[in-house]
Amino acid sequence: MTMVDAHVQGGHAITPPTGTARLLAADDPAHAAHLARFGALPGRRGADAVIAELERAGLAGRGGAAFPTWRKLAAAAQSGRSGVIIANGSEGEPLSAKDSTLLHRSPHLVLDGLLLVAAELGAAEAHLVTTSAQLAPIRRAMDQRADAGGIRLHETHDRFVAGEASAVVNGIERGRAIPRDHVVRLTASGLGRRPTLVLNVETLAHIALVLRFGADWFRSIGSSDDPGTRLFTVVRGGERAVVEAAGGTLLSAVLRAGGADPARVRAVLVGGFHGAWVTGDAIDAPMSPAGLAPFGASPGAGILMVLPRGECGLARTAQITAYLAEQSAGQCGPCANGLPEIAEAMGRVGRRDRNSSLPRQLRELTALVTGRGACHHPDGTARMVLSALDAFDHDLRAHARGLCQEAAA
Ligand SMILES: Cc1cc2nc3c(=O)[nH]c(=O)nc-3n(C[C@H](O)[C@H](O)[C@H](O)COP(=O)(O)O)c2cc1C
Ligand code: SF4
Repeated sequence: MTMVDAHVQGGHAITPPTGTARLLAADDPAHAAHLARFGALPGRRGADAVIAELERAGLAGRGGAAFPTWRKLAAAAQSGRSGVIIANGSEGEPLSAKDSTLLHRSPHLVLDGLLLVAAELGAAEAHLVTTSAQLAPIRRAMDQRADAGGIRLHETHDRFVAGEASAVVNGIERGRAIPRDHVVRLTASGLGRRPTLVLNVETLAHIALVLRFGADWFRSIGSSDDPGTRLFTVVRGGERAVVEAAGGTLLSAVLRAGGADPARVRAVLVGGFHGAWVTGDAIDAPMSPAGLAPFGASPGAGILMVLPRGECGLARTAQITAYLAEQSAGQCGPCANGLPEIAEAMGRVGRRDRNSSLPRQLRELTALVTGRGACHHPDGTARMVLSALDAFDHDLRAHARGLCQEAAA
């Protein structure tokens, strides 16, 4: 009997979701609807079996870095001490809406994932961090079930870097959500010096489904390098739409599902403010790590920001860079000194300053900050700036002559 067949609740079989609506498959967020759609929590099977199932599933983290989830659980399990599990729903990236949508529409899948991982790893504490808007709905969801009373709920801090894993730990512990150096891994010493596992809320929701319906079901859609589904936030001007799509779906199809017209797209910032610009000629790239690698991009946390035809990518990049420089915790050299210099140079490029050495300066400055911060904020910022220099190469030359191709188009 497969894990899928084994799901019989109150005399009726639970059919696993068959289409791409998995995380968002329940009709409403109430616990009763959740149980009717997905069934009760699966029984305990032990940390080793859980880790093996997640490895077979090939689930990678949905918080941005796409680290294999089974490896993180294995590292936490190896520590051998009762530790801490944190569900990261901070969603510090202002473009993203997928975590808040998931918490709003399917809070019980996230709670299930958190409770399952905590139980299987023998964790002493389970925490959930989210934005102020989600606190009340999550509290309501916790009150609807008898097993969630021990979860500690926290409000995130309104800052881009507040969702970085060590900043999340600092936010809970000290009330200051700033990253710390990663010399000691959180899985060795995190909250209260105990082994701490931080997982994105979408990752936890997938875990809840994999442990119910099995790795084969998880892999039954998606691409071999990006199995299962993922949530995308399609951003067009001031509008954001959250779409659940199979891994490897074409960029154009995800954009269409999010209400954007691919024919009107000049470029897409894939992966959000720490992502990479992909131009309109790559509109049919598969949204998977392998499909996006030729363009220097990756799905990241699933953000797709559309730059419509007629808008200047360099000016938009300058705005984002200024924001990112301002959002750093300013406690490391690359952020305190490097990012403001990069923002200044990028601002001049965006304003069509007739200085043809600015791109070279930007390449030098981005090389100087990369890999030098306590967290990856400088690296992500540098990557986004460099991708703009490549994607908008023609505009770069026009800007150095005081012109803007796109504005003239
Ligand atoms: C500057 C910065 C900001 C981040 N913000 C978030 C965030 O808001 N939410 C999130 O889940 N992960 C965020 N991350 C990634 C986390 O550090 C961590 O890798 C993630 O929560 C782990 O979950 P996953 O393995 O399920 O992806 C951020 C990372 C960096 C470098
Ligand atoms: S690299 Fe920047 S954002 Fe990261 S900890 Fe250092 S100052 Fe803060």
